[in-house]
Amino acid sequence: MEVITFTKDTVLSDVHVHSSSKKHLMVRLNKVGQPVFRTHFKILWQNSTLESASEDCIIITDNEDKEKQRKDEGSLVFKATKLYDMQAIENLLDEDGDLEVQRRPQSPSDRDDTREYARDVVCPTILTIGSDGQIEEEECVNNKDVIKIEHTMATPLEDVGKQIWHGAFLLADYILSQEDLFRGCTALELGAGTGFTSIIMSTVAKTVYCTDVGDDLLEMCERNMVLNRTFTEQAGGGQIKVKELNWLKNQLCTDPENPYSWTEDDIAQFYDHTTVIIAADVFYDDDLTDALFKTLYRITHALRSNCIIYLSMERRYNFTLRHMDVTCDAYNHFRNCLNNFETTSNGKQRWSVQEIKPVFPQFFIYEREHLELWKMTATPLT
Ligand SMILES: C[S@@+](CC[C@H](N)C(=O)[O-])C[C@H]1O[C@@H](n2cnc3c(N)ncnc32)[C@H](O)[C@@H]1O
Repeated sequence: MEVITFTKDTVLSDVHVHSSSKKHLMVRLNKVGQPVFRTHFKILWQNSTLESASEDCIIITDNEDKEKQRKDEGSLVFKATKLYDMQAIENLLDEDGDLEVQRRPQSPSDRDDTREYARDVVCPTILTIGSDGQIEEEECVNNKDVIKIEHTMATPLEDVGKQIWHGAFLLADYILSQEDLFRGCTALELGAGTGFTSIIMSTVAKTVYCTDVGDDLLEMCERNMVLNRTFTEQAGGGQIKVKELNWLKNQLCTDPENPYSWTEDDIAQFYDHTTVIIAADVFYDDDLTDALFKTLYRITHALRSNCIIYLSMERRYNFTLRHMDVTCDAYNHFRNCLNNFETTSNGKQRWSVQEIKPVFPQFFIYEREHLELWKMTATPLT
C-alpha cells in the first residue's frame, strides 16, 4: 500500500490527527497534485439516543416520532438549544466525568491496535484519481446528520485553508446553538478554507458569502458546497456564494476571468444586506492578522447596516529562542488588534469587544481547551 510521509515543512491540522487514520478516504489528486481526502463529520443533534459509536465520531440519531414529525413538516427543523440525551453524554465521559476524545498515539509503542498508524503515516483508500470534474449525483445524497468535507491532510503553510481547523468547529457550534441570532441573515465568512463553517451558517442564514483566496482552494470549497447541497437544502437554509476576498487587496475581485469574482450586483447585494461577519482560525501570522483587521475596518465602514463580527481563535503555544520560553505570539498580536479595533472609531460606529465563553453545546467532537470565541458589536455614532 502506498505510504505518504509528511515532511518537516508540512502543516497538519489536529482535526485530522484526532480522527482515526483508517477513516480518511483519499478521493482524488487536486490540480497541484495534492491528495484530497473526504471526511464525514457527524452532527450530534438534540433529544437523541445514542445509536452507535462509529469509527470517526459518534452517531446520534433522532427517534422515529421526531423523524415522522419532521417529514410531515416537509423539512428538517434544526433546533439547538438543548443538546444531548444525558444517557448519550454519559457514554462519552470517562470515570472523572471528562469528555473522552480519541488521542493520537505518542509513539509506535503506545499503539494498542495494530491497525492504528502513527501521526506521520496515512494509508489512503483511493476512490478515484482524476480531475476536479463534476460530482456524481449519488455523492450528493446526504445523510441529514453528516457533513462531507473534502480536504487535504497536510499542506505547506500557504495551503492551510485546505485543512479543517478547530476554530471552525467552535464557530459552527455557536451558530447551531444560537441559530435564532443568525436566522435569515446575510453573512460573510473570511478565510473560509474548506467552507465547513459557511455550510453550517447556511442552514440558518439567507445568504452566505463564503470567501477565501486562491482558485485551487476556492474550487475545493465550492465542491464541498455541492457535496452538502442536500444537507443544506433539507435544513431549509440559504444560498452560499463562494467568492474571492483577499485581505491584502483593497477591492473585491471583479476580474471576469476569475470564476470567483464579484459581479456588480453581488457587490451591491453584499454591502446592502450583510449584518454578520465570521472568521475561524485565521490568526496565525501577524501580517495577515493586520490585513484581516484592516479588511474588517474597510468592509464594516462600507456596509449599509451595523454588523456583528464573530472570530474564533486557537491559542497555539510554541517555544521560541527569542523569548527562551513558551509563548503565544500570534495570539498576543490578535488581542492587541482587538484592543485597537475597540479604541479606534471609524467615524460611523464604535466597537465593543466581548469574549463568548465556550460553554454552549457541542455538536462536534473536538477539544475546546485552547479555543476562544470573540464577538465585536458596533454601536452607531450619532
Ligand atoms: C488556518 S486556515 C482556517 C480555515 C478555516 N476557516 C477553518 O477554520 O478550517 C486560514 C485561512 O485563511 C486564509 N487566508 C490566508 N491569507 C488570506 C488572505 N490574504 N486573504 C484571504 N484569506 C486568506 C487561508 O487561505 C485559510 O483558508
